Amino acid sequence: DLSGWRAANPDKALYAVIGDPIAQSKSPIMHNRAFAELGLDAEYRAFLVKEEQLERFIAEARASRLAGLNVTIPHKLHVMKHLDDIDADAEELGAVNTIVNDNGRLIGYNTDGIGYVRSLKEEAIASLQQKEIVVIGAGGAARGIVHALLKEQPASIALVNRTVARAEELVASLKHQGELRACGTDQLQLLCASADVVINTTSVGMYPHEDEQPAQGSWLKAGAVASDLIYNPLYTSFVEDAEQHGCIKHGGLGMFIYQGAFAFEYWTGKQAPVEAMRQAVLAALK
Ligand code: ATR
Repeated sequence: DLSGWRAANPDKALYAVIGDPIAQSKSPIMHNRAFAELGLDAEYRAFLVKEEQLERFIAEARASRLAGLNVTIPHKLHVMKHLDDIDADAEELGAVNTIVNDNGRLIGYNTDGIGYVRSLKEEAIASLQQKEIVVIGAGGAARGIVHALLKEQPASIALVNRTVARAEELVASLKHQGELRACGTDQLQLLCASADVVINTTSVGMYPHEDEQPAQGSWLKAGAVASDLIYNPLYTSFVEDAEQHGCIKHGGLGMFIYQGAFAFEYWTGKQAPVEAMRQAVLAALK
């Protein structure tokens, strides 16, 4: 428990991730490597917290001066009511994945969408300005990503979803200048043909259904970026297939690394050692 840990480690900074389930989380491995790399006296732990335990956990986190938190499913929405302040983007998204303890004030942020965009720009395409983007899927993951993509001044974002009404709802709920529109799956092939970036945010192609694809690689033009949020497998058959047709492939691991990098930077004020973090996670995935 947190008070016992604090008594045994009076000066150490404690960070944690909470969720349910949480055992599979690679966040402790990633952040502990980052702390070691920078020689910080800090520790990062995972806690299984059920929905009914959330309020009590946050109270204990305050009492034991927890330095920072990551929040994952199912707490990203409900944790917000227990915080002292919420960043404007996280407020607009209605989801928090990172909490900073600023001298006793708990402040909520969301680094998922910006982590994805930073990964895309570091690993696949230098700028998204005036680019034509296709996003497949209209769930929670798509929401965070589209919100961050809109800040990059793309020419257009087509949000393609099996259930077109859900894509329409998402488009209506986000502030934009008309560059975002909802489309049905029947338009996907045509949209892919002119897109500069095609992003799969659905679970289609995830282990153990690695042979399924949300789009054919041959639909994309050569030189386009085929991106997937899935990182199990590290590269889906969609992005591998697109690479075979002359595209640049971008897997989902970078989103995980960079959402963590932003959290690390918000917590410590220091630049995250991204490559060490990536090596630690890759080693743990093997
Ligand atoms: P997440 O938070 O990961 O985005 P979600 O909110 O459950 O998860 O959203 C899942 C998304 O994947 C939705 O866009 C869903 O399409 P529908 O809105 O039509 O259900 C999409 N999705 C999941 N399985 C799919 C499949 N087999 N084919 C096409 N789309 C699928």
